[in-house]
Amino acid sequence: MKIVACNSNRPLAEAVAASLNLPLCRALVRRFADMEIFVEIQENVRGEDVFVVQSTCYPTNDNLMELLIMLDALRRGSARRITAVMPYFGYARQDRKSGPRTPISAKLVANLIVEAGANRVLTLDLHAGQIQGFFDIPVDNLFAAPLFTRDIRERYPTRDLMMVSPDVGGVVRARQLAKRLNTDLAIIDKRRERAGVSEVMNVIGDVSKRHCILVDDIIDSGGSLCNAAAALIGSGASSVSAYVTHGVLTGGAVARVSASPIEMMTITDSILGTEAVRLSANVRQISIAQLLANAMRAISDESSVSSLFD
Ligand code: R5P
Repeated sequence: MKIVACNSNRPLAEAVAASLNLPLCRALVRRFADMEIFVEIQENVRGEDVFVVQSTCYPTNDNLMELLIMLDALRRGSARRITAVMPYFGYARQDRKSGPRTPISAKLVANLIVEAGANRVLTLDLHAGQIQGFFDIPVDNLFAAPLFTRDIRERYPTRDLMMVSPDVGGVVRARQLAKRLNTDLAIIDKRRERAGVSEVMNVIGDVSKRHCILVDDIIDSGGSLCNAAAALIGSGASSVSAYVTHGVLTGGAVARVSASPIEMMTITDSILGTEAVRLSANVRQISIAQLLANAMRAISDESSVSSLFD
């Protein structure tokens, strides 16, 4: 079993390797002057079970290309089996035709990954589970829910909690956590009555005097989460916290969260935290390194990955 790190999140790859008590495979990923990517694997991988760790986060296209070129190098180096470990799977939100003459980029990315040489994919909280079907190779989709459940129990042992989905699309995810924690569930229903008229947030469920936890897979601009938090406080919630798997956090998202009523937002390290994240008073990261390491060990040993869903 060998672990190769590309450049998007080296600290996570190092933490995974440390959990597995393995050194990272010696490999070079660098740029030519014109920004072409060059990869050189500096040790023998012939016949090995290789895991490439790379989140396709910002800069998304560069990180995706690094992964593709690494997969190609490993296949040409005669690795026995190659698993693309993608803690954050970029382009996942483009999973259907959103209008006439638009692409399904998640499918295109799936094709590229397979074509480049991956035999399996390991990922976390895919934006839509059906993306697994875009691949004709095995895809293991891990869940952050067990990790979040443990963390919420430790952090808020005495609070009367309520899980909240910030939109109708995220209800299944929030309900999963509510079930694990045996709490109630509320839903934010976003509605724009007419184009150009601002969005109305209807809170479905009685959140008055409750400690609400917003649950989502991605925070990008922070708009959905911060507006949802304001709506909850407006409906009488005692406090609002958030658990989000992937901190995409573009533009001024961290500043927006800081200025919002969100008491604390917990994200995972599927995407490397920026300086703004590290300095933020109400954003914290918890690590998925052990979860990934357990899954990689299970894949390598041909044992159950689904046992990690509990
Ligand atoms: C949407 O379906 C996702 O689950 C997230 O709610 C969304 O990507 C968050 O985006 P933003 O932070 O820009 O509102």
